[in-house]
Amino acid sequence: MNNIKLFNGEEIPLEMHKVKIVQKLELKPINKRLKAIQEAGNNTFLLKNRDVFLDMLTDSGVNAMSNKQQSAMLNADDCYAGGESFFRLEIELQKVFKKKFFVPAHQGRACEHLLSRIFVKKGNIIPMNYHFTTTKAHIRLQGGDILEIPIDEAFNLNSECLFKGNIDVTKLKTAFKQHKDKIPFVRLEAGTNLMGGQPISLQNIQEIHSICKQNNVPLVFDASLLQDNLFFIKTREESCKHKSILEICNEIASNTDIIYFSARKLGSARGGGICLNDEKTFEKLRELVPLFEGFLTYGGMSDKEMEATAVGIRETMDFDMISQGPQFIKFMIDELNKAGVPVVTPAGGLGGHLNAKVFLQHVKPEHFQAASLASALYIISGIRGMERGTMAEERNPDGTENISAIELVRLAVPRRVFTMSQLKFVVDRVVWLHKNKDLIGGLKWKEEPKILRFFFGKLEPISDWQTGLVEKFKQDFTDSL
Ligand code: F0G
Repeated sequence: MNNIKLFNGEEIPLEMHKVKIVQKLELKPINKRLKAIQEAGNNTFLLKNRDVFLDMLTDSGVNAMSNKQQSAMLNADDCYAGGESFFRLEIELQKVFKKKFFVPAHQGRACEHLLSRIFVKKGNIIPMNYHFTTTKAHIRLQGGDILEIPIDEAFNLNSECLFKGNIDVTKLKTAFKQHKDKIPFVRLEAGTNLMGGQPISLQNIQEIHSICKQNNVPLVFDASLLQDNLFFIKTREESCKHKSILEICNEIASNTDIIYFSARKLGSARGGGICLNDEKTFEKLRELVPLFEGFLTYGGMSDKEMEATAVGIRETMDFDMISQGPQFIKFMIDELNKAGVPVVTPAGGLGGHLNAKVFLQHVKPEHFQAASLASALYIISGIRGMERGTMAEERNPDGTENISAIELVRLAVPRRVFTMSQLKFVVDRVVWLHKNKDLIGGLKWKEEPKILRFFFGKLEPISDWQTGLVEKFKQDFTDSL
């Protein structure tokens, strides 16, 4: 669905669904929020969800399901082996991805684990548009490494480029010249997560696939964020304007060899899996599934999850359904942009991204600009975003901080979950925070775990800036909400 024009000239995205089940939310007053974030060590991962008003941490496993998904769950054929739920999911996947074999797995990273195990050997290099954290970890665990070769525009946070997720074709050709025998596959990620949900074009997929064919290596496609990417291809790529979503999806499928996905995102359910045609690869994967995931006809998913995913995948072929996420995100980003808040543009899928390096220029990078901004935003609004910056990096081998070139706060917009007034609330509070940005200070480590520090690490303010921020908020919002 495209935006609808109101009589007053305003254009807004209009929800093509109605709400049938709701969950009560609470907006706790600012004093309680301050206490909660202090107890969480200024790490939004450590907040209790009961203290959060709008949870914009991720879109993973928190998209709203449709009534048809819910009802399909009652049809689950619960059993250990050979259940109908598996075959129903397999059929839906064959319709969209056109692959003969389906290997189920409990979620996206499990697919990455299985694929890395069978493809990646010590010294291998995997070219890709950009990594996702779990992808990189699994490839490295097998002794391989990643080679990120997106187009240069990908690193321009404010760009006009409509497909910032594209791979640079020349760089891929050079990679094959330089590392010919070390490349077991090329990986393309739809709706490139760590670049701010930026899409790839169908044309780029076709070009990359033909280079892979020339070099005789498979093209592995991470379809976790395909839903938003399909919307962008349909609305931004001239040659696809008149194609149906299913047609676009089928074309993507015929230009990729292996497709894997997290059903926590694609299909608005839980689970994941790998779709492919090559029988030998399928046989190798099949050996690993019972070891790491579960029997071949559930792979760690419950039958209910498989039913919900099957319907979710079918519903993803509906343009109205896939429009909602990107349109809501664009609305939020446009409003923030108009108000002068530094955001990543053009708006992508998954969520909106605040540019903390520009937002908090006065905070030193070693004092965690994105983490400080995420903490401040929670304090003044109850909105939980995610730090995507230095805290998410690992230290350099010599022990020094690895200061990230990009400091973002991700505000995920789970699909069909938030209302327009909630989105307006987000915009309002971010704009207020931007006007009062000088009150925000930095953070320093209090407890720093050795691995995955962004999940469990705790930080503390370098000065008493949080109290000052709270006082100013109470002056402007006397109800403390
Ligand atoms: N690939 C992409 C592009 C992802 O965004 C994710 C997860 C995965 C793979 C792994 O899938 O979580 O089912 O194991 N992204 C989540 C996020 C965690 O918050 O962005 P998973």
